[in-house]
Amino acid sequence: PEEANFFVAVGGEPTFRQLVDVFYAGVADDPLLRPLYPEEDLGPAAERLTLFLMQYWGGPTTYSENRGHPRLRMRHAPFRVGPAERDAWLRHMRTAVDALELPEPHRSTLWDYLERAAYFMVNTMDPA
Ligand code: HEM
Repeated sequence: PEEANFFVAVGGEPTFRQLVDVFYAGVADDPLLRPLYPEEDLGPAAERLTLFLMQYWGGPTTYSENRGHPRLRMRHAPFRVGPAERDAWLRHMRTAVDALELPEPHRSTLWDYLERAAYFMVNTMDPA
């Protein structure tokens, strides 16, 4: 069926690599987000996000082969994710989604998911 696999429909792995590359270029220069990342090299974190998103959308399951069940809320518990961090994350992600220039409805499908996922990841309402 035509809509069987979103991963394939949006261009497969290169699309998700580009998305995450543009996103992390923004994170690298972000004074609120950059300090949250424990490793000096953002490369491994970028790889984990790329593989997760590819798997989520029906691509290869390499993420879970390497990392097990995603449990993303639990994995974010060590990091402060308040409304400001969420909004900064979404700002960089919006730039990255827009750069893909996906046709509708794919663009909205991807963006709506990322927006909901970011709201779901918030783990504190304490002001920064
Ligand atoms: C990991 C921050 C939202 C997916 C991380 C890490 C940080 C972080 C600091 C650890 C870096 C690392 O992997 O070593 C944030 C912030 C968010 C946010 C501030 C703001 C809302 C999201 C969302 C998703 C996501 C919405 C999914 C759609 C991931 C994945 C990992 C990760 C897959 C790696 C998990 C693992 O296998 O260890 N995030 N994140 N994050 N994040 Fe987020």
